[in-house]
Amino acid sequence: MEKQQGVDLSLRKFIKDLGCIAGGTALLATTPWLKSCTPEKLEEIKKEKARIGIIGTGSRGQYHIVNLLQIPHAQIVALCDNYDVNLEAAHAMVPDARTYTDYHELLDCKDIDGVIIATPLGAHAQITLDSLAAGKHTFCEKAMALTMDECKAVYDAYTKSDRALYFCMQRMYDEKYVKGMQMITSGQFGDVVGMRCHWFRNADWRRPVPSPELERKINWRLYREYSGGLMTELASHQLEVCTLVTGKMPVEVSGFGDIVYWKDGREVYDSCNCVFHFADGRKINYETLISNKFNGMEDQILCKNGTVDLAKGVYYLEEDNMIFGVRQLLDQVRTGLFAAVPTAGPSWRPELKSEYVPHAVLDKHYDVNAGQSMIGVVNDGSDVIVSAFCQSCITGEKAENVVEEAYCATLLCLLANQAMDERRIVTFPDEYKIPYMKF
Ligand SMILES: NC(=O)c1ccc[n+]([C@@H]2O[C@H](COP(=O)([O-])OP(=O)(O)OC[C@H]3O[C@@H](n4cnc5c(N)ncnc54)[C@H](O)[C@@H]3O)[C@@H](O)[C@H]2O)c1
Repeated sequence: MEKQQGVDLSLRKFIKDLGCIAGGTALLATTPWLKSCTPEKLEEIKKEKARIGIIGTGSRGQYHIVNLLQIPHAQIVALCDNYDVNLEAAHAMVPDARTYTDYHELLDCKDIDGVIIATPLGAHAQITLDSLAAGKHTFCEKAMALTMDECKAVYDAYTKSDRALYFCMQRMYDEKYVKGMQMITSGQFGDVVGMRCHWFRNADWRRPVPSPELERKINWRLYREYSGGLMTELASHQLEVCTLVTGKMPVEVSGFGDIVYWKDGREVYDSCNCVFHFADGRKINYETLISNKFNGMEDQILCKNGTVDLAKGVYYLEEDNMIFGVRQLLDQVRTGLFAAVPTAGPSWRPELKSEYVPHAVLDKHYDVNAGQSMIGVVNDGSDVIVSAFCQSCITGEKAENVVEEAYCATLLCLLANQAMDERRIVTFPDEYKIPYMKF
């Protein structure tokens, strides 16, 4: 029973819980994209179904199918993939759906309200443009597109279209992120003074290939013709959170990208360190490496009075560290560690992260993404954003800021790739600025 209505119930409860915490309308003012999927709107459309076609039924497409099958207001009517193995696997999950190998044929179908695109990044822009042009509400996987020109073309098409468009930036629908971001933007932790995000894995990012001619098709993530590498695949989610909590865009990007360990013919970096510099001096330090997973994945927002790790849904207060510092000093005096007791002063205060007490952002159990999956994580907001998209397919209502945020995050990833490739500081180019951006 619970399973059947899982997404619906959690979405409803999610908005209600957050509404209570924030005082209802206050929540929606700071997270306007949630306005299109309030519990009241869900109630209004409960007898209707969005008729969905899916283009790209590989691992992420199949993950979306699992979620869609639990959404009462969704019905999967068509599937398309140009790789028969993945099309057949998806068809086995939804035997009633029609199948296509050419996505144009799926877009021609009059009985499809919304299209979900889960192809490799290199195909996102063209299929999204074609889908909007065919009059379909459209949901595309992140990142937005492979090049800045493509991103701009998609953004421009969206602004001229009356169709809803979503990119799968699921942190915007992940309740621990939403609540944490809200706590930060309300000023609860003081000013945001910096950001540190990282994503570490220890795996080659390769998939087994049944025959050599399928190498690039199956391992598309490793080749620049289809992929922006670790920045678009991983960092896009994290950079988006940083621009949301600051409400600003960095003006400059620098970084180093290298193939440190996986020297197997791939074209994308397996190690990236980037600095995103804001006009007011704040910075995002971003690091990703896929040959050591000690540090896992964290999205740390550093504020004057505390630090929020949005990925884990915890926060730490600067004042807690001082209490621990005093305790540690007393312990050290008691055990005779110091020959002479130092006089009070900042120099003896420990700066170790481990001395801080974690406080939970949400007062309940929630899932934490350790960062190791290439497909998706349960309850990371992906089910909620797909549910919200299906609601938009019925109501026709756009979700505010989702496209804009995807555009901002993707541009930052692509600029970082440019900075690393050219080994120089890249300034945000005027031609790709949009009115939504504040620098
Ligand atoms: N939001 C997230 O957290 C998240 C997680 C994983 C993957 N993704 C994204 O999902 C997308 C797909 O990733 P994946 O791991 O599922 O890749 P995948 O290789 O497993 O699946 C992609 C599928 O698209 C098909 N395809 C390619 N071009 C096509 C075309 N022109 N017409 C029809 N089908 C086509 C391929 O044959 C393949 O079956 C990527 O953009 C990836 O970044 C997002």
